Amino acid sequence: MDLEGMAKISILLVGLWLLVNWSGLLDAKNMKYKNPKHSTDTRVEDLVSRMTLEEKIGQMLQVERKYVSADLLKKYFIGAVLSEGGSIPAPQASAETWIDMVNEFQKGALSTRLGIPMFYGIDAVHGHNTVHNATIFPHNIGLGATRDPELVKRIGAATALEVRATGIQYVYSPCIAVCRDPRWGRCYESFSEDPELVQAMTEIIPGLQGDIPNDSPKGVPFITGKEKVIGCAKHYVGDGGTINGIDEHNTVIDRDGLMKIHMPGYFSSISKGVATIMASYSSWNGVKMHAHHDLITGFLKNTLHFKGFVISDFEGLDRITSPPRANITYSIEAGVSAGIDMFMVPKHYTEFIDVLTMLVKNKHIPMSRIDDAVGRILWVKLMMGIFENPFADYSLVKYLGIQEHRNLAREAVRKSMVLLKNGESADKPLLPLPKKSPKILVAGSHADNLGYQCGGWTIEWQGVSGNNLLKGTTILTAVKNTVDPETTVVYKENPDVEFVKSNGFSYAIVIVGEHPYAEMYGDSMNLTIPEPGPKIITNVCGAIKCVVIIISGRPVVIEPYVGLIDALVAAWLPGSEGQGVADVLYGGYGFTGKLPRTWFKTVDQLPMNVGDPHYDPLFPFGFGLSTKPSKALYSS
Ligand SMILES: *[C@@H]1O[C@H](CO)[C@@H](O)[C@H](O)[C@H]1NC(C)=O
Ligand SMILES: *[C@@H]1O[C@H](CO)[C@@H](O)[C@H](O)[C@H]1NC(C)=O
Ligand SMILES: *[C@@H]1O[C@H](CO)[C@@H](O)[C@H](O)[C@H]1NC(C)=O
Repeated sequence: MDLEGMAKISILLVGLWLLVNWSGLLDAKNMKYKNPKHSTDTRVEDLVSRMTLEEKIGQMLQVERKYVSADLLKKYFIGAVLSEGGSIPAPQASAETWIDMVNEFQKGALSTRLGIPMFYGIDAVHGHNTVHNATIFPHNIGLGATRDPELVKRIGAATALEVRATGIQYVYSPCIAVCRDPRWGRCYESFSEDPELVQAMTEIIPGLQGDIPNDSPKGVPFITGKEKVIGCAKHYVGDGGTINGIDEHNTVIDRDGLMKIHMPGYFSSISKGVATIMASYSSWNGVKMHAHHDLITGFLKNTLHFKGFVISDFEGLDRITSPPRANITYSIEAGVSAGIDMFMVPKHYTEFIDVLTMLVKNKHIPMSRIDDAVGRILWVKLMMGIFENPFADYSLVKYLGIQEHRNLAREAVRKSMVLLKNGESADKPLLPLPKKSPKILVAGSHADNLGYQCGGWTIEWQGVSGNNLLKGTTILTAVKNTVDPETTVVYKENPDVEFVKSNGFSYAIVIVGEHPYAEMYGDSMNLTIPEPGPKIITNVCGAIKCVVIIISGRPVVIEPYVGLIDALVAAWLPGSEGQGVADVLYGGYGFTGKLPRTWFKTVDQLPMNVGDPHYDPLFPFGFGLSTKPSKALYSS
């Protein structure tokens, strides 16, 4: 080639280079998705139109933190990360450590071609329950007993703030299951057996996400900014109706029953703008909910006009087949085709990417389905402002576990206490207790154990035992804080009869119940309080005047002991602020809680819910004695 030829080629190359870069510059200016002046719909449409299949499929994934890094997020265009139960960046990690981890993942997401931010999800189901020093609120069953939706909304707002204090933007809450059988290990995650009460308690959603504007179109999710989080109504649908309460099992009920019992919570959640809905592991009449096109696409999206995204449960795809992962191609095709948009695939995410890519390329799944899924996810991300503010700063750290939240939890505890028996007759009540007595006994496995008091989904998935890992007040400490300084409080976990009789106690407070559990590990066909609980009740209440406080995630077998017990309180799983229990025991406040569930006599009556023809409870749904605050109010 001669010089002239080379010059021509150079000019051509320079020209080409200019053209390419100029159009790139123009393109950047026209990137509508980056410009908040455009409507969210316009931004979603623009962004989806720019995405490759690979980028779209990555966006549909949520992976567990321990199996991913910033580089892997970038490599696979992954849209979201999560902590499974108990998955933490470091033992007793501080809020700053959590923020640093989330921001590190965010850097990976933002370094992709299109720079789509990720969000991070966690099970904050009774406060920010995985995080060291967070406020632990009562589990949902206790909140149901308060009958106070406005309180529950405030708890949602406090939880959102503590979650954001750690840089996290998404919570798998609320569980709006309508537990119809207390043998189910997740019954405490349910506000009530009554669909209407569950509907009322969806007020937690505007607490978590912010209030939806009055003119907001039907089904459109709404999250109001950097102190709010993405919420998730779960588990769609019928999770609380499985046979014998077996976790993840089959809910056998006709369509009318499903609509009347298990669906109303979703009507309310959607009208309050819930951003996401999680599919249930369970089946409806033998069809897995993760593969239920009729109920997910047909009913939820088309009939109810839900515009947020549907997320799978943790490894929910795997469990479409039995045994799990028997045919992952089938599972992915069934789940995506049913209408699930985002998939919690904690570990095997490259397999998901490969299989879904093949299914789209083979036209087993149309691109329109993928675009629908991605569009919904991006809608939520854009609407919550994460494109504009992808990184968490430390400004909210100060809200983790603050006194205001602990006071709120304490208020919730005292309002959730249900007084089931109070002395032999109404004119001889035992409660409220006198603050001044020479000597009293506190007994029981649950008197001085914050872990037991909080239940499952606390620090660890299955909960913990003891006081070392949690910040809060045990009921024993609360009693000591409350009685007159001249009252001697003797604590003995498991006293024998001789000890109880021979010490001149004025009365005893016995605190026993279930040990922590979560999900299937909590399924129980006998619903008995584990020993030595019953033995402690018998030893103490057989000898002296006693108040028994039951710490449990549900009604348990208590009928055989009621005759021995002078006063009986259902305290559910109250969480970190045990002072709320002493508040009502000693008359600082009156008892107001009402049973959110039917209390059975024997397990062979189950399932038995209010309105059933064979209804013959020990204590009916809605039962709860009240007391008046005593004159000797103490300051809180
Ligand atoms: C948790 O609270 C305890 C007691 O107030 C405090 O000593 C500790 O530093 C806190 N931990 C973190 C990580 O902030
Ligand atoms: C797995 O599922 C796919 C898609 O439904 C099907 O074509 C294939 O035959 C199944 N494989 C086995 C081993 O059952
Ligand atoms: C009751 O069921 C639980 C859970 O299934 C079991 O661990 C326990 O041993 C049973 N208790 C009795 C008294 O049968």
